[in-house]
Amino acid sequence: MQKILVTGGAGYIGSHTVVELQQSGYDVVIVDDLSNSATSVLKGIEKITGIIPEFEQLDCTDYAGLDGVFIKHKDIAAVIHFAASKAVGESVAKPLKYYRNNLMSLINVLEVMQKHGVDNIVFSSSCTVYGQPDELPVSERAPRKPAESPYGNTKQICEDMIVDAVKSGAKVKASLLRYFNPIGAHPSAEIGELPLGVPQNLIPFVTQTAAGIRAKLSVFGNDYNTPDGSCIRDYINVVDLAKAHVIAVKRLLENKSKKPVEVFNLGTGRGLSVLEVVKTFEKVTGVKLNHEIVGRRAGDIEQVWANPDFANRELGWKAVETIEDTLASAWKWQQKLMR
Ligand code: NAD
Ligand code: WQD
Repeated sequence: MQKILVTGGAGYIGSHTVVELQQSGYDVVIVDDLSNSATSVLKGIEKITGIIPEFEQLDCTDYAGLDGVFIKHKDIAAVIHFAASKAVGESVAKPLKYYRNNLMSLINVLEVMQKHGVDNIVFSSSCTVYGQPDELPVSERAPRKPAESPYGNTKQICEDMIVDAVKSGAKVKASLLRYFNPIGAHPSAEIGELPLGVPQNLIPFVTQTAAGIRAKLSVFGNDYNTPDGSCIRDYINVVDLAKAHVIAVKRLLENKSKKPVEVFNLGTGRGLSVLEVVKTFEKVTGVKLNHEIVGRRAGDIEQVWANPDFANRELGWKAVETIEDTLASAWKWQQKLMR
C-alpha cells in the first residue's frame, strides 16, 4: 500500500481528500498543526472509512519536525500539500503571517522531500491566481494577474517556487491544482467545513444564516455587469474536488504526467451568481434565507468560472455533483454541527 503524506489533512479539503485516498486503497499520514482544524475531524474520517489515519500534530514551518516525520514514515511516496493559512481578509491585515506560513511550509516540504528522495507533490493552488480573467471561461493558459491580496500572492509565489525547483534540476514532479470555489460537505455529514468565527465565504455564511446563527446574509453588490448584477463563481463540490487529488497523485506515482509540472483547473465549468445560489439554497432546503443587497466587497472579482477541459481530458476527472445536492450537503453538515 502506498503511503501519502497529507499536510493540512485535518482541514476542510484535506479531510475529504484523506477519505477518498483511503477509499482508493492508499495509506495516509496527516501532518496538521490544528491551527484551523480539530482532532474531531479524525474521528469523522474514521466514521466514514473505518480507518483512523495516522496523525502527526506539527507545524510545517518546523523543518526538523517535518524531517522527523519523513524519518519515521520511511515509505512516503507522495505529498499532497494543503497546509496553509487561507483567509483573504486576514492576509491583508497580517501579511507576514501569510508569507511566513505559506511560503516557509512549502519550502520545508520541498526540501525535506528532496532529502528523503520523495519526488511527487500535489499542491493546492487557487483560481485567485487569475484575478479577473480577460476571457471566460478561464483556461490554464490564461495569464496570471497581479495578486489582489497577500494570500493570493503566496499562491503565485508557491507555484513559482515549485516551477523554479524543477527548472533547477530538482527531481520533483508536481501537479498544481487551481481550485475554483470549493463548497459542500461529505454526504455522510461526518466531515465538512469548520469556519472559525464569522465566516468570510459565501456558503458557510448562508448555512449559518439559515440556521439562525447569523441574522442576515449580505449580498455584496447587485450592480455588476452580470445577468442579475451579482458576482459569478464556479462552485465545486468538495468531494468531487477531493477525488481529483487522488487521480492527480496516482498520475504522478504512475509517471503518467506529460511534464514535470502540470497545472489543472478544478471547477465545474459553470458559473453561478450569488443570487442564484441563494434561490437554489432556498429551493433545496425549504428554508427562507434572510438576505439583503449591500455594497460591493472590496477586491471582489466580478465573474470567474473554469474551463476544466484539460483536467477532464488528462485526468479523466469531471465534477459530477449537482449544485442542489452540494448545497443540501452543506445544510446537512450545518445541522449536524448544531446538534
Ligand atoms: P483549511 O484551513 O480547512 O485547511 C488547512 C489545514 O492546514 C488546517 O487544518 C490547518 O490547521 C492546517 N495548517 C495551516 N498551516 C499549517 C502549518 N504551518 N502546518 C501544518 N498544518 C497547517 O483550508 P482548506 O479550505 O481545506 O484549504 C486547503 C488548501 O486549499 C489551502 O492551501 C488553501 O489555500 C487552498 N485553497 C482553498 C480554497 C477554499 O476556498 N477553501 C480555494 C483555493 C485553494
Ligand atoms: C463568493 C461570492 C462574494 C460572502 C475566496 C478567495 C479565493 C478562494 C475562494 C482560496 C462573492 C459573495 C460572499 C457574503 C456575499 N480561496 N459573498 N456575501 O471571494 O470567490 O473567493 O474563496 O484560494 O482566493 O478569495 O469566495 O465565498 O468569499 O465569495 O455576497 O457574505 O459570494 O462577493 O461574489 P471568493 P467567497
